[in-house]
Amino acid sequence: MLDKTATRFSLVRPEDTDFEPGGLRDFFLYRDLGIAHATNGQVIAHLVKANKAPEKGTGWHRHEADFQIVIMTKGWARFMYEDQETLVKAGDVIHQRPGIRHYLFDYSPDMEYLEIVSPADFKTVDVAPVCDIPAPTPWN
Ligand SMILES: [Fe+2]
Repeated sequence: MLDKTATRFSLVRPEDTDFEPGGLRDFFLYRDLGIAHATNGQVIAHLVKANKAPEKGTGWHRHEADFQIVIMTKGWARFMYEDQETLVKAGDVIHQRPGIRHYLFDYSPDMEYLEIVSPADFKTVDVAPVCDIPAPTPWN
């Protein structure tokens, strides 16, 4: 029987996994860092980067998760967290408390962030709009 509490050593090098489409958002690419496999689904860690210019953004949503942090490593993104417009720049770290309603509506062409969430199969739930959203910044 598989012990779901067991974890295993993991080393994932940059050449081991590519940024790929098919994640939660079609305007982003995702690079898996092997943590979901190493922790039997207790935690996921992936790099997320911009792939297409912002248009409609993520829409208002919340996540059903125990833990979620976003570490912006390149560029910037603008979020609404509830009714608060929030610029997140490279070097900034966000703890997204479970259930917080948010909307990622703008990001730079070079945006890249590390996201760590538990559990790996966390859920995303669309919610009713909280407030109006500013227009995204065109890519030129
Ligand atoms: Fe989100």
